[in-house]
Amino acid sequence: MNNVLEFEKMKKEGRKISMVTAYDYWTSKIVNQTDVDCVLVGDSLAMVMHGFPSTLQATTELMAIHTAAVSRGLTKKFLVSDMPFMSFRKGVKAAMEAVETLMRAGAHAVKIEGVRGHEKVIQNTVGTGVPVMGHIGLTPQSTFQMGGFRVQARDKAAAEELLSQAVRLQELGCFALVLECVPGSVAKKISETLEIPTIGIGAGPDTDGQVLVLQDLLGGNSEFLPKFLRTYSDSEGAFKEALKRFDADVKSRRFPSEKETYL
Ligand code: KIV
Repeated sequence: MNNVLEFEKMKKEGRKISMVTAYDYWTSKIVNQTDVDCVLVGDSLAMVMHGFPSTLQATTELMAIHTAAVSRGLTKKFLVSDMPFMSFRKGVKAAMEAVETLMRAGAHAVKIEGVRGHEKVIQNTVGTGVPVMGHIGLTPQSTFQMGGFRVQARDKAAAEELLSQAVRLQELGCFALVLECVPGSVAKKISETLEIPTIGIGAGPDTDGQVLVLQDLLGGNSEFLPKFLRTYSDSEGAFKEALKRFDADVKSRRFPSEKETYL
């Protein structure tokens, strides 16, 4: 999919939306050749690609570098880029500058965590003609306040507040929203209530789409295996095995062979 209008259309037609993260040109070129619908340059890149302990270290400049690299590998996928920590909490002008940077880097839309306190930013971004994807539930930029990476909206009041945030995001003009780490029943209710699609991660089977971090779904991190994750490959094992064979071939002089040598 390479058109924002497809999101609502897919929901209306009952077709599920698949989204994965990509952080670099090489992987985006591969994702571009698959049926996956859309790509997210998530601020999770601060942790996955740079080894930081949280997403708070992602800056607009860092997001723009990765967004530009990913966009060069995509010809037919919708590309969403994350507005990083604080970039949308310092007033509308500063937020619009961050939006401009990400869009000029190649994004087709931006994703913004939360809603309360920055409704004007969301409204202004949509009003400028930039599609906005919401993100509620577990919002990693607020994990210090949430007491860590934990399932949200477990009680009735919190579930009602989450539903009201979702409705507000729809009213503000978001074209879709991510629901992260919430009980399946809460995600189902929100998905049934909204006209715009919900894309879940750790939100059960009843959202309108699913998103995963590419390295997680490829089995690239054996230290991170949350309940919601399904791995479709053992890329960590495959990498290690390839490097083991390369090392052994070099040390035993089997590589390079005559065939691999210029004459
Ligand atoms: O940054 C990210 O990768 C995300 C997804 C987990 C939705 O926001």
